[in-house]
Amino acid sequence: MSAVVVIGAQWGDEGKGKLVDVFASHADTVVRFQGGSNAGHTLVVNGQKTVLHLIPSGILHSDKTCVIASGVVIDVLGLAEEIRKLKLTGLPLTASQLLIADNATVLLPYHKALDQAREKALSEGKIGTTGKGIGPAYEDRASRRALIMSDLFDSNNLLEKIEFAIKEKNVLLKNLYDAPELSAKEVLEQIKPAIEVLREYRLTDVSLFVSQKLKNNKKLLFEGAQGTLLDINHGTYPFVTSSSTLAGSGSISAGLGPHHLSKIVGVFKAYCTRVGSGPFPSELKDEIGAQIQKEGHEFGSTTGRARRCGWLDLVALKYAIRLNGINSLAMMKLDVLSSLDKVGVVTAYKLNGEIINEFPTSTELVGQLEPVVEFIPGWKEDLTKVKTLGDLPVKATAYINFVQKQLGTPIDIISVGPDREQTLWVKPLYKD
Ligand code: IMP
Repeated sequence: MSAVVVIGAQWGDEGKGKLVDVFASHADTVVRFQGGSNAGHTLVVNGQKTVLHLIPSGILHSDKTCVIASGVVIDVLGLAEEIRKLKLTGLPLTASQLLIADNATVLLPYHKALDQAREKALSEGKIGTTGKGIGPAYEDRASRRALIMSDLFDSNNLLEKIEFAIKEKNVLLKNLYDAPELSAKEVLEQIKPAIEVLREYRLTDVSLFVSQKLKNNKKLLFEGAQGTLLDINHGTYPFVTSSSTLAGSGSISAGLGPHHLSKIVGVFKAYCTRVGSGPFPSELKDEIGAQIQKEGHEFGSTTGRARRCGWLDLVALKYAIRLNGINSLAMMKLDVLSSLDKVGVVTAYKLNGEIINEFPTSTELVGQLEPVVEFIPGWKEDLTKVKTLGDLPVKATAYINFVQKQLGTPIDIISVGPDREQTLWVKPLYKD
């Protein structure tokens, strides 16, 4: 087995960053395959916290290669700043540690301006985006006016390309959103220092690079961002992000045949959260939701927004298993539930008096679902110091077993705290 994919099985913020950091020590190359600086991947090593947005979560392992694949939208200013900050912490971040797809989409300040102006203009029906310009950048890619990474280093044509891309945005900013226009020349001046930072890193044919790695029996680790229910096609549209967050998109983004992605790890929290607008059937709008939010520090690492919290939703999780082909699960933040007397799990929904066992594809219907909640006794013991599966309280093990049985998919990893060390392995990573 050579390629493992890590994806979020809920609405994002499941703890993919921690898991990729832990898995990276067993891999050779880590490939981030979609999204942009809307993601906030938090890693904690020996109590020290690092938040990454664009750089793959394997970067703390200086002997691994991290790759940003072509399906990512790269905020040039954001990436340069992330590199600068990481270097300040003493990481070498050499050119051999970070490769960037030459054909990845460039995200520039006018994408952010448009994203933010649109959200501001919507009174009802706000998506609640991160404001990082993700939607407009992917739109540019699809409408074939995006700059790609290699354009940044073609100084003869760069201004002209920015002028072409910015023209339409300015019409919208000025006439539709009553927002300030941007000047192509100013944008170019603004990004010049960032281009110099990025010049140090190798623009790469990622497809060729990863296929050569596979030929040499190297282990690949693919890192997704956001979560399954935010997928542009299968999520709760329009309350979604603008890329495909599913495992299959890893294959497309890196230019590698789908049969190479043999292990699909679905990451989920022992409860559920959502940030931004859109339906959330298992949401708890009561003091228990507030308690989970507090215990789990459920505030966004990109925007600082409070995350909505709810019970683990097994129907939604089964949908994620189906959409991604998940064959291995990682349950994160089990320790957060330790303060509860009983833990709820959504096992079905009710819609107009009828029991529903499948997650509806209609977002309108998702908004009308009533959750059917089963309760499991809580364990009320601190899990953060637990080092082995055998040391888990019996009631916590019963919770894990209940969830696993309902899902019919093995839970191979259990996380009981943010640190690398707080990880319990049921099964090794690169093994069938
Ligand atoms: P966008 O990706 O910034 O366009 O935001 C679209 C939706 O996805 C909003 O509801 C965001 O809150 C959500 N979103 C985007 N990135 C993340 C993430 O990394 N974690 C959780 N939610 C996210």
